[in-house]
Amino acid sequence: MSDENINENEEVSEAQIAVHWKEEEYFDPNPKFIEQANLKDDEILKRMGEDNFPDGFEEYAEMLDWDKKWDQVLDASNPPFFKWFVGGKLNASYNCVDRNLAKYKNKTALHFVPEPEDEPITHMTYQELYNKVNEFAAVLRDYCGLKAGDTVTLHMPMVPELPITMLACARLGVIHSQVFSGFSGKACADRIVDAKSKYLITMDSYYRGGTLIDHKEKADIACNQAAKEGFEVDKVLIWQRYPGKYSAETPMVEGRDVFVNDILKDYKFAKVDPVSLDANDTLFLMYTSGTTGKPKGAQHSIGGYMAYVTGTSKYIQDIHPEDVYWCMADIGWITGHSYIVYGPLALGASSVIFEGVPTHPDAGRPWRVAQELNVNIFHTSPTAIRALRRVGSDEPAKYDYHFKHMTTVGEPIEPNVWRWYYHTVGKDEAVIVDTWWQTETGGFLCSTLPAIHKMKPGSAGPGVPGIYPEILDDDGKPLPRGSNKAGNIVIKNPWPGRMLTIWGDDERFVDQYYKRYNTKPDSKDWRDWPYFAGDGAVEAPDGYFRILGRIDDVINVAGHRLGTKELESAALMVDEVGEAAVVPVPDPIKGVKPHVFVSLKPGFEATEALAQKVTDMLASEIGPIAKPGKVWIVPDMPKTRSGKIMRRVLGAIAAGKDPGDVTTLANPQIVEEIRKQS
Ligand code: WTA
Repeated sequence: MSDENINENEEVSEAQIAVHWKEEEYFDPNPKFIEQANLKDDEILKRMGEDNFPDGFEEYAEMLDWDKKWDQVLDASNPPFFKWFVGGKLNASYNCVDRNLAKYKNKTALHFVPEPEDEPITHMTYQELYNKVNEFAAVLRDYCGLKAGDTVTLHMPMVPELPITMLACARLGVIHSQVFSGFSGKACADRIVDAKSKYLITMDSYYRGGTLIDHKEKADIACNQAAKEGFEVDKVLIWQRYPGKYSAETPMVEGRDVFVNDILKDYKFAKVDPVSLDANDTLFLMYTSGTTGKPKGAQHSIGGYMAYVTGTSKYIQDIHPEDVYWCMADIGWITGHSYIVYGPLALGASSVIFEGVPTHPDAGRPWRVAQELNVNIFHTSPTAIRALRRVGSDEPAKYDYHFKHMTTVGEPIEPNVWRWYYHTVGKDEAVIVDTWWQTETGGFLCSTLPAIHKMKPGSAGPGVPGIYPEILDDDGKPLPRGSNKAGNIVIKNPWPGRMLTIWGDDERFVDQYYKRYNTKPDSKDWRDWPYFAGDGAVEAPDGYFRILGRIDDVINVAGHRLGTKELESAALMVDEVGEAAVVPVPDPIKGVKPHVFVSLKPGFEATEALAQKVTDMLASEIGPIAKPGKVWIVPDMPKTRSGKIMRRVLGAIAAGKDPGDVTTLANPQIVEEIRKQS
């Protein structure tokens, strides 16, 4: 819709303003994919339809092995604290490890791809995983004295010892809280203190971008900082990147630090029975940052979470036991917990763990790994796709691999980038799912069903089975279905993957996710409690949802609401542009104006003409209202360690303000370089 169509005089709420996206063409799933898919017919939509809520979700729970079956599918008597599969008992570690032994004990559970290419890829069978999980569970129970309900903080890189540690915790009912390894010692401390973990489990070092990083250093910072905040860590357990050899410079602290490999010697072939736990006991905490204030620990259940990630791994990821599945996210994020570890292993798949940076030593690396391991399911983020496209758009064609299925997750994907992913990475063969969800939701919320729905670039798709999304305006009124108007996306119903609460802060949980649209705080009817996701979205007439980004990622230019994503998407249609980021900058006339930052694909030079080309593209794609205040052609974007572009830093530079602490960025030096251009 062009902006002339917005009637200036009509009373439109902030959330209703039309978005300027164009409709995209559909892509059909490959018939070869459909033939082998786990989910071939759309009966599921009935089985998990609103009429069959909540019982439809039993189908997911039945994919697990239970020690005791549940008595009640959903206890919704105390909204929004919903309980799933009440009375059921199970163990997550048993479901991911032990139960696979009967059929798959000699099959690879985890392929580990070290970053240095001269280090061989290792393959751990389910039997070996079982042995290691048991041995480490014995360490946790007998050496550390940990038991069900205790918390431990993990600060581990992408190595097989991370899922081993998680599954050993899960075996005992010890609640793990893995902190992304790229986070600082200080960030780790905040999470230790909040979770009250007496034990920190880490690794001495790991490879990133060609360097063996001293990671143990961060454990010291974390413990010292925690102590300053009044919390003592009793012990730090340190895995070694090269077992038996210490690969960090930072000295060990006597009495506090121990090497896991030293203790393990006493637990060779130890066996630990999986503890039978309540479905609504806690499996793990995953901290995520809020808009303000301290990070919140999303507290996930055992039964509901495991059922949800197993079901969605089977139906949306189409994982079969014989698949080699590679999710290139980090296990330190929710994507890795749900879709590298718990979901794929519960289904007996072979899951790939990749230590390093996808573009190191060159942008052909992921495709070499795919070729070597015969990966057939690939899962990554738009940020990684953009980076690979930018520096190696011709690389995939050079390697002999074939994906049947690919996922994108984490941000909206620009249709142009989607098409590169489809044609070049997927070689026109792979089906793509664009999965929209959050740390808090445990698993997918919106996505197409890979063998059933057509794909539409840039749109996540309808709610997945059992999930009923809706778009509300600022006052809580539903926008007409399929209106293509922007509003706030909510999920109308509870579902099993949703977190139980925020660790230690029920009030914040209610405030953050439910207060916005709950008008009857005393209501005991779950229908009065829509889940507020905090994302802007539009629903097209075909029922596909297109996510516009966090509701704060909206730029209001002279009263016109423009999603940063739609602007970035247009900038990426300029051939030379590799990455784009748009930020709002105060403007005396228009309130704010968008500034566009672009970095170029290799071999192109920054010129005035190119900047003009970007401006013209925004004007032609979206409308004159989208003309940027300035186009910055930069050597690279400031990025977090997980690869997200730090728009906040760019916004500060553009506004001539102090960008604040940038030391946690993956590339802090870039900030000064960009600033010099102002
Ligand atoms: C965004 C990651 C568009 C969204 C699993 C959400 C997406 C936030 C998509 C959660 C997608 C995630 N399309 N936007 N497919 N997936 N998002 O907690 O803004 O790290 O609220 O979970 O990422 O990020 P989180």
